Amino acid sequence: MLRIAHRGASFEAPENTLAAIRRAIALGAPWVEVDVQACADGLVVIHDETLERTTNGHGPVAGQPLAALRALDAGHGERIPLPQEVLDLCRGRCGVNLELKGPGVAPLLAPLLREALAGGWSGRELLASSFERTQLAWLRAALPQLPLGVLTERVDERACAAARAVQAGVIGCALENVDAAAVTAAHGAGCRLWVFTVNAADDAARLAALGVDGVFTDRLQTV
Ligand code: G3P
Ligand code: CA
Repeated sequence: MLRIAHRGASFEAPENTLAAIRRAIALGAPWVEVDVQACADGLVVIHDETLERTTNGHGPVAGQPLAALRALDAGHGERIPLPQEVLDLCRGRCGVNLELKGPGVAPLLAPLLREALAGGWSGRELLASSFERTQLAWLRAALPQLPLGVLTERVDERACAAARAVQAGVIGCALENVDAAAVTAAHGAGCRLWVFTVNAADDAARLAALGVDGVFTDRLQTV
């Protein structure tokens, strides 16, 4: 069962920072997941729509210029990364799952993903995922070769239909809703099932026994 470092090694380093990704690589994570949002004039790697929880800034990410966001402290002196910095750091070291948060990310992210695929990233090392079906549809139309992941709270008919519609290779589902039927349904839709967020060894063991393909974890040393 694949382990995906959720927001990097986020139990040990500030989430969604290059330090968290470096730590994940050092711990042997085969994949790293980070969150991507649009700001006023670009894209940044951050989970929340607002700055308060993870940085020393204030207010919504969406309205802020990139230069101002890059001047903030995202924890332990780390900067808010750019998606390109994440790809550069991970290249040849681990796979990267970029989760698109919020509207308007796909058109801004597509050139970077296109360049990555043209520049030697294989489909086995790159995944773009989202809870937002319109973002995934946009990416599928723009980048037919790009591996996609449909995020969902539960693997129901709608999620499977969404996965089929964009030829997704992964369904990402919330831990509390995963059972044998969810695994069967995801596989029936032609997808691997990755589960978020798994921080306890007994949960990981249960999921492995069910045939789950991957787990997003903050705690690489536990799971
Ligand atoms: O991609 C799986 C997981 O990261 C989705 O939830 O809120 O941690 O981005 P969240
Ligand atoms: Ca995420």
